[in-house]
This record gives sequence, structure tokens and C-alpha cells, in this order.
Amino acid sequence: MTTEPDIKKGLAGVVVDYTAISKVNPETNSLLYRGYPVQELAATQPFEAVAYLLWHGELPDEVQLAQLRTLERSYRHLPADVRAVIDRVPIDAHPMDEVRTAASLIGARDLAGMGSVLDASGSAEENLARSIRLFAVLPAIVAYGQRRRRGLDPIEPRDDLDYAANFLWMTFGDVPEDVVVDAFNRSMILYAEHSFNASTFTARVIASTLSDLYSAVVGAIGALKGPLHGGANEAVLHIFDEIGDASNVVPWLDEALAHKRKIMGFGHRVYKRGDSRVPTMKAALDTLVEHYGRQEVAELYDKLESEFVSRKGIYPNLDYPSGPAYNLMGFDTPTFTPLFVAARVTGWTAHIMEQLASNALIRPLSAYNGPDERHVEGYVPDEAMA
Ligand code: SDX
Repeated sequence: MTTEPDIKKGLAGVVVDYTAISKVNPETNSLLYRGYPVQELAATQPFEAVAYLLWHGELPDEVQLAQLRTLERSYRHLPADVRAVIDRVPIDAHPMDEVRTAASLIGARDLAGMGSVLDASGSAEENLARSIRLFAVLPAIVAYGQRRRRGLDPIEPRDDLDYAANFLWMTFGDVPEDVVVDAFNRSMILYAEHSFNASTFTARVIASTLSDLYSAVVGAIGALKGPLHGGANEAVLHIFDEIGDASNVVPWLDEALAHKRKIMGFGHRVYKRGDSRVPTMKAALDTLVEHYGRQEVAELYDKLESEFVSRKGIYPNLDYPSGPAYNLMGFDTPTFTPLFVAARVTGWTAHIMEQLASNALIRPLSAYNGPDERHVEGYVPDEAMA
């Protein structure tokens, strides 16, 4: 009698490998990047330093940070041929398709002339350089995408601005206020890394075949687009727009739950008593609500959270506070998940390099539940084949 296989749908609860990059602990509701609590990093570090930490395993000293910043500045311009390809993407395509296309072109350019696929996976040094290139150019790609949709030209980066301020400068054309830079910098650190989430695991599967880092990042962008994953931060704003204001939360939620709708921005596969990153991002949102005098956003946020948690016992995830925060900063809703790409590319590339170093192909098993073996009518086996 065959025993039923122990299927772990969605790999829920399955530990598939070690990683030294981050630790997500639902018991203590904590998240460590290379041992450091993410809250401490978000409160004290520029995003560039956290990128360095994820790639190298240690926070940079002043010289190392300065060297990374010099490299980042040298790659933060939008190459003309990449802009030309972005301009070929339909203006009403989703920005994640634009970012995915641009990342793919950057990889094709960088690997052009690379002999065979056997060379694609590259050396540790080559992959670190590739990681820094993507980290540096994605802000220009995301910023141009929003400006293009508004009928505006790209804005050249400014060397006198560090990563977060320059990202905002290239998007809006104003030197951003410190309170906005700080909130944005925190969001990038909080979004940077989260162990084997769907998009990171996608990247690791691709890297496990010894394919190249760019192919793995393009695959990860495709995974992140989904509303059950990165696309949720955009979906939160669509929900806020549907509800309108706090007075409409109860009837809206009654209707939504009656139709078994997933309420985007709530729930998590790993955290079951709240996402460790939410308090830090909520504090950043609160500073923006006060700075812009938009108390009604906080009222809607708090009312929907208290109603949904009290009814379903399901808590907000990082996408819930980050959506309204990006809205207050001035980002268009479809730009939100591309912002997630710009942050998570640091975690993805750290995992890709870790996976390439492990040299272990990821290939799980499946249990077959299709038709029993059967044969083509009239088939007569070839004597020689028998
Ligand atoms: C991210 O993995 C990561 O680390 C991801 C991420 C990262 O940093 O990389 O943290 C980023 O992706 C955060 C999650 C963003 N997604 C959303 O906000 C989409 C809404 N959330 C749900 O789709 C859901 O909570 C998931 C997909 C996030 C997690 O789902 P699980 O763990 O697979 O749980 P489930 O879908 O099996 O839900 C269990 C029950 C179900 O009810 P029943 O069918 O058993 O009656 O809870 C319900 C679900 O319907 N439920 C929800 C809900 N989340 C779970 N019901 C309504 N709204 C929700 N948001």
C-alpha cells in the first residue's frame, strides 16, 4: 500500500537551506541582517551601509563606505540605450514590466561577448560588481519610469546627494527635506532583505543552475510583482482609495470580507503575530503624516487596522505602512513595487552570491497524481526499440 507523500504546499514551514544573510524569527518577532536588528540599522545607517553589510557580512568602515559611494555615484546615471528601451515599453504597461525589461537589458549589455553559459555565473568579484551596478542604476530606472508616465524628462543625478536623497531628487526634481529622506532611507533598509521570501527563493533557484546574476534578478522581479508578495504595497493604496476615509471602513470591510477578499497589507507566511518591521515603518509614516498635516491618512490607517485585526486576528505586514508613506512622499501608486525592487536588489544579490558559492542545484520532488500509465492506440513498439 503506497503511503501518501507528505506534501508541503507552498513549502510552508519547510527549511530548505542555511543562510547567513538574515534571520526572521516569528517567536521573538525579530529580523536580523547579519546579526544586527533591523530596527537598529534603520535608525542609524544610510542604505548604502546596509547594502554593504548584506554583501560583505560586516558594516563598512568610513573608507569602505566612501568607496561604495564613489562606485554607486559612477553607475547612477540612466544609460541612453536603457532609456531608449524603456521608451519602447508601452506607457500603460505596469512599471514592474518596465523595471524587469531594463534590468534584463543591463544584464545583456554586461554579459555581451561572454563566451558560453559556462562563464555566465561569474566570479565573486564580478558578481559583487554586478550587484553594485544594479543597486546604483535602479533608482534612475524607477525615477525615470514615474517621470515618463507624467510626461516629464529624466533628471540627472546629483553627486552632492547620497543614495536616498538622490533617488528623491531624480524622481521629483527638488532637493528633499531631511524628514522625507530619513523616512525613505528607513523604508529601503526595511525592504532590503527577508530570508527565503518568494522572490529571493526564485533568485536562488535560478542561481542554483549556475545561471547569471542578472537572470536571477529578472526572475525575482517577476515574482515580486505578485499582489501576494511585493505588489501588496501598491494594492494597499488601491484599498485606501476605495475606502476614502475612516468613516467608511466598517461598511467597506463588511462587504470585502463577505466576498472573501484578501485585504492587502495584512497577514504573513512567517510572522503570525505581526511583522517585526511594521513599528519602524509606522513611526516613519507618522512623521510624514505630521510633516504634511495629513491626519486623515492616520485615521484611516488606524481604523482599518483595528477593525481587521479585531475581526480576523491577522496583523499588518510591512506593505501596510509603506504604501501610505510612499503616497505622502509623492510617489505614484504603480511606482511603489519598483521601489521595493530597488531596495530588495541588495538582498537578492547577496542571496544569489551565497547560492552560487554553495554550488547546490535546487530541484525538489513532486508526487504524481495524473492518469495511470496508458499507451497510444495502435502503437507497435519498434523491434529495435524494444
Ligand atoms: C510580503 O515572505 C516574505 O517575507 C514576504 C515579505 C518580504 O519582505 O519579502 O514580507 C513581503 O510579501 C508581505 C506579504 C504581502 N502580501 C499581502 O499583504 C497580501 C495579503 N496577504 C495574504 O495573501 C496572506 O496573508 C499571505 C499570502 C501574505 C500569507 O498567507 P499564508 O501564510 O499562506 O496564509 P493563508 O493565505 O493560507 O491564510 C490563512 C488564512 C486563510 O483563511 P482560510 O482560507 O483558512 O479561511 O488567513 C486568511 C486566508 O484567507 N488570510 C487573509 C489574509 N491573509 C490571510 N484573509 C484576508 N486578508 C488577508 N490579508
